[in-house]
Amino acid sequence: MKRIRKAVIPVAGLGTRFLPATKAIPKEMLNIVDRPTIQYIVEEVVASGIDEVILITSEGKSAIENHFDYDFELDTILKQKNKQELCDNLNSLSKLIDVVSVRQKEPLGLGHAIWMARKVVGDEPFLVLLGDDLVRAEKPCCRQMIDLYNQVGEAIVAVQRVPMDQTYQYGIVEGKDTSYDRTFKVKRMVEKPAPGASNSDMAIIGRYLLMPEIFDILGTTTPGHGGEIQLTDALQVLSNQRSMYAYEFEGRRYDAGDKLGYLKAIVDIAMEHPELGTPFKEHLQSLCLKKQETGD
Ligand code: G1P
Repeated sequence: MKRIRKAVIPVAGLGTRFLPATKAIPKEMLNIVDRPTIQYIVEEVVASGIDEVILITSEGKSAIENHFDYDFELDTILKQKNKQELCDNLNSLSKLIDVVSVRQKEPLGLGHAIWMARKVVGDEPFLVLLGDDLVRAEKPCCRQMIDLYNQVGEAIVAVQRVPMDQTYQYGIVEGKDTSYDRTFKVKRMVEKPAPGASNSDMAIIGRYLLMPEIFDILGTTTPGHGGEIQLTDALQVLSNQRSMYAYEFEGRRYDAGDKLGYLKAIVDIAMEHPELGTPFKEHLQSLCLKKQETGD
């Protein structure tokens, strides 16, 4: 079985939900406590044992590439100012992983963005991570998926149960139980089903482990939901050709592409922060006490 070495991260989206904050900076560079959202995603990839990240970018996203690059000028200035620790920190980031980027020239959808990675990925299974979905887990979500892949040897989509009135926001999987823990065999997939179109509450979260056959399928997938080339539609075809699994991962997921989800991620991550955690919790407690006293 081929080892999973590469992860594709599409970052070409416009980030309209965060305007005006994202007018001049990519949404993936919005800060969560002390690092940009995209760094959490790349750290998950690194912690899962992946060697190479393939970013699918668009115009105006060079800040992301620069973030993972070595900055000679900044390095020199920090060294002159005896800020060695900060310097080491930044250098360890650029040494984390090899980052390659591919331009998606037209915004034709998630499926099309993944198809853009075909030449760089080649003929091997690979991961896809969507930058809006942050997953905090003891064992990184991608690692959990790789461990399952080592047993089943087939494509896997990460899923989470969502309330039935929210299924229209996700790709929904219908599946049947297997003998593997938290794992279902995919029977059918629907991208953002209209109410009543599916009775499953298993939503695809932005983590996929895919077989290279997906590229040929994506190359012939016609626009689906929202007039875009949908990854879910191509996955449905792949699942008819060979087995595919849905895996209910362990961990907390944040929709960092949504303002409330983003705020929740900030608060939770700040509370766990080694230096900021305790004073931040004290601040939140005092805020809650004040609210109780004033009855607001
Ligand atoms: C994408 C996928 C969808 C998935 C979701 C998870 O949708 O198309 O199947 O459930 O990500 O975040 P988007 O949220 O980009 O519209």
